[in-house]
This record gives sequence, C-alpha cells and structure tokens, in this order.
Amino acid sequence: MKNSITMTDNRTDKSYDFDILNATRGPSVVDISTFYAKTGMFTYDNGFTSTASCKSEITFIDGEKGELRYRGIEIEELATKHTYLETCYLLLNSKLPNKTELKEFDLELRHRSLVHENLRHLFAAFPAGAHPMATLSAATAALSTFYYDHIEIANEDGYQEMARRIIAKIPTLAAFAFRHSIGAPFIHPDIDRSYTENFLYMIRAYPGGKMHRGVNGEHKIKEIEIKALDTIFTLHADHEQNASTTTVRGVASTGAHPYVAISSGISALWGRAHGGANESVIKQLEMIGSVDRVNEFIARAKDPNDDFRLMGFGHRVYKNFDPRAKILKGLQDQLKDELNLDSNLMEIAQKIEKIALNDEYFISRKLYPNIDFYSGVILTALQIPKSMFTPIFVIGRTVGWITQWIEFKKDKSMKIARPRQLYLGK
Ligand code: ACO
Repeated sequence: MKNSITMTDNRTDKSYDFDILNATRGPSVVDISTFYAKTGMFTYDNGFTSTASCKSEITFIDGEKGELRYRGIEIEELATKHTYLETCYLLLNSKLPNKTELKEFDLELRHRSLVHENLRHLFAAFPAGAHPMATLSAATAALSTFYYDHIEIANEDGYQEMARRIIAKIPTLAAFAFRHSIGAPFIHPDIDRSYTENFLYMIRAYPGGKMHRGVNGEHKIKEIEIKALDTIFTLHADHEQNASTTTVRGVASTGAHPYVAISSGISALWGRAHGGANESVIKQLEMIGSVDRVNEFIARAKDPNDDFRLMGFGHRVYKNFDPRAKILKGLQDQLKDELNLDSNLMEIAQKIEKIALNDEYFISRKLYPNIDFYSGVILTALQIPKSMFTPIFVIGRTVGWITQWIEFKKDKSMKIARPRQLYLGK
C-alpha cells in the first residue's frame, strides 16, 4: 500500500499524489509542499486549522482526549512531581536533570538574572502607567542590542547559553515593567532566592529587601505561594505551534535575532484571544460582579448578534477539558483556605462553568474552560495585579519559545515562512 493520498481535480479528471508523513503520536500529515508545482493552485486554510507548519519533537497535544506532554512526559506528572526549572531543563535538553545538572542550571540562571544598567534606563522613556506587556516586549527586543553576537549562533553550546540568558532575565524585565507601570523603584534580583521566589520578591519588595504585606498580612513569601506560581509557570512552559510560537518561528525564519523573535512572541501573546485572556477573564468576572448576573452574560455569549465572548472558554485545539485548566482547578481548591481566594469571583466562575458545561451552545461547540479561566483567581490571591497576568504567562512561555527557536534553527530543511494568498482584488 502506498503511503500517499490522491486528489482529483473534478474539472479535468486529473489526479495528483501526495506523500503522507507519519507522526509518532497524533495525526499524520499530507506533504503538500509540491502542491503548487503539480496543480498550479495554492491551498487555502484560514487560521491554519488543518495545517502543520513544521516537524517538532518538543510538545504533543491530543485535543480530543485533553492530553498534553512535554518531551513525552505528561503535564500532570510535571506539574505535580517536578519544578518549573526541571521542566525548563527537560524542554531544552530532552531529559529531566539529575541533581548535579539541576544545581548547575539553577545557579547559572541566578547568576544571569541581572540586566545591564543601560537597559534599566530604557524604561524611563515610557509613559507612566504603560502596560507591562508593551514595555516587556520593547525591553526584550532591546536585549538584542546587548547580545548582538547571538545572531550568529549556530552551535549547541551557543544555543544553550543564549536560552539560559533569556530565561534568567525575563523575570527581571517583567518585574521592572511592573514597577515602572506603578512608578515604584526597581528591585534587582536576589541571588539567594530561587527562580520563582525571586520574581515574587522583585514584585513585592521595598528597597532594602523588606516585603510589603502579602497573604494574611505576612511579610514573608510563603512556600505555598512559590509552589503555586511555579506550577503556573510549568503549565505555561510550551504549547506547540500556538499563535505566539508560530510568530517566534516566523521571525526566526527570516534570520532575525533570537531575542527579537521572543519579543514578537510577547506581542502576539498579548491579544485577548491568546495569552491576554487571563487578564480579560478577571476583568470580566469583576464586571459580572455577582452570581445573579451570570445568566445575563451567558445569554450574551450565545447571542450571534453580540460580540461578547466568555473569556477563558474555548480553544482551537482542545475539544475536551484543557488538561492545564484541570490542574489549576485542583490547585484552586487546594489553595482556598491558605490563600484567601476571592470567594465572590470564585462563585461567579463556578456558576459560569456549571451553566456552560451543561448548555447546548457550549456543548455542541466543544467550548470548555481553558487555562486562563482559572489562573486569574490564583494570581489574584498571590497579590499579583491584573496587568501582570500576561507577563507571568510570558515568563513561563519563554523557555518554550526559545526551545522552538532552537529546533527551527537546527532543522536545515526549514524555509522562510512565506504563505500565499487567494487574490480577490482588481
Ligand atoms: N464564548 C462564546 N462563544 C464562543 C467562544 C467563547 N469564549 N469561543 C468560541 N465561541 C463560538 C464562536 O462564536 C463560534 O460559534 P459559531 O460556530 O456559532 O460561529 C464557535 O464557538 C467557534 O469559535 P471560533 O472563534 O471559530 O474558534 P477558534 O478555534 O477560531 O477560536 C478561541 C478559539 C480564540 C480561543 C476562542 O474560543 C475564543 O475567543 N475564546 C475566548 C478567549 C480565550 O479564552 N482565549 C484563550 C485561549 S487559550 C490560550 O491562548 C492560552
């Protein structure tokens, strides 16, 4: 049996063969790279709903089953048994680190967490109150001016150094972006703190190192807060060829600097159809305001003449529960007593979820809560302001973007991303 597919042009009765490339998991793909040469036509796939843009060994999603794996390991296992740094190491090296490797990785990230003082001054150019996603994207692009030589990297050691550098510095830049947005003095990373704790520290500390009051009026960052945020980072670490990763790969394909590619990914993530949904979810829950008004907004979400959408619902790939959302829902329940989760917001969210999961509109369209539906309530309990929800997504996702960038560079068959069009003009 030939591993190919035959297409017939019914206008001419001509048939064309296309090879099938087998996947190790999930759907196989039809290689249509010769389609134009053979048929004189392009293919049309609005939103790339049926198009694989690359070959990859990093992340696997089964949207029908609600399954997610990084380098073959299930997300549930990574989120419950491993740390975010172990997950970063796994994505970059295709294996979990042993104790020595983890220690070395952790130390290197701590050492590289400082950013050049000149870069800090860049923030002064932005207006007070600038959204942290905008300044974070700009600062990440500006990082390319300090490491311009990374544009030439073409070997494994260079790739790893460049990846570790950006993963180490992103939380510092995100914290600077936040502190600029509220006019607070910048706090530099503390080398004695772990990756995740350090970020909370840079957000919360006063100059001199003391912390403003956090959960339950305490000044110290609690272990449970670090664990919760670390899990959130792990759940966001990669998600195969989503909109922002596709943007990163697209920029990589032109030969631009890796940190500029990451900056483009940050910009793509900001939109509320993508990573910006986590900020929009909480704003929407606050706008709904009380459980009595949930039905009114469900009706609006279902009305074809109303643009209103339930934020945190639906996903291009998951047509079943988003496994990351399931983990966060469990985490919310665990944290309820210790972290003062906002009970009003939780009640509204629970009512929306209950109604939507039993409503024909949502069932027939396979619209389930996604990761963003649950992350906001937890982040709010960690005293993280709404404008920082998407930058937190950025911190978690940077490892995914850079791992995908490296994979792109190593695949010598990859070409510049240059789609065609169906021309309908004059
Ligand atoms: N609320 C109400 N209706 C919805 C929603 C929603 N959140 N999402 C999709 N629909 C409806 C659409 O109106 C459409 O209905 P129709 O067939 O009657 O026209 C149908 O479901 C399919 O929707 P599409 O927009 O075609 O689906 P697509 O796969 O292109 O979009 C997306 C996926 C962008 C995530 C969409 O579900 C959405 O806008 N959700 C809200 C924003 C959100 O939560 N984004 C985060 C995604 S996860 C992430 O990026 C981390």
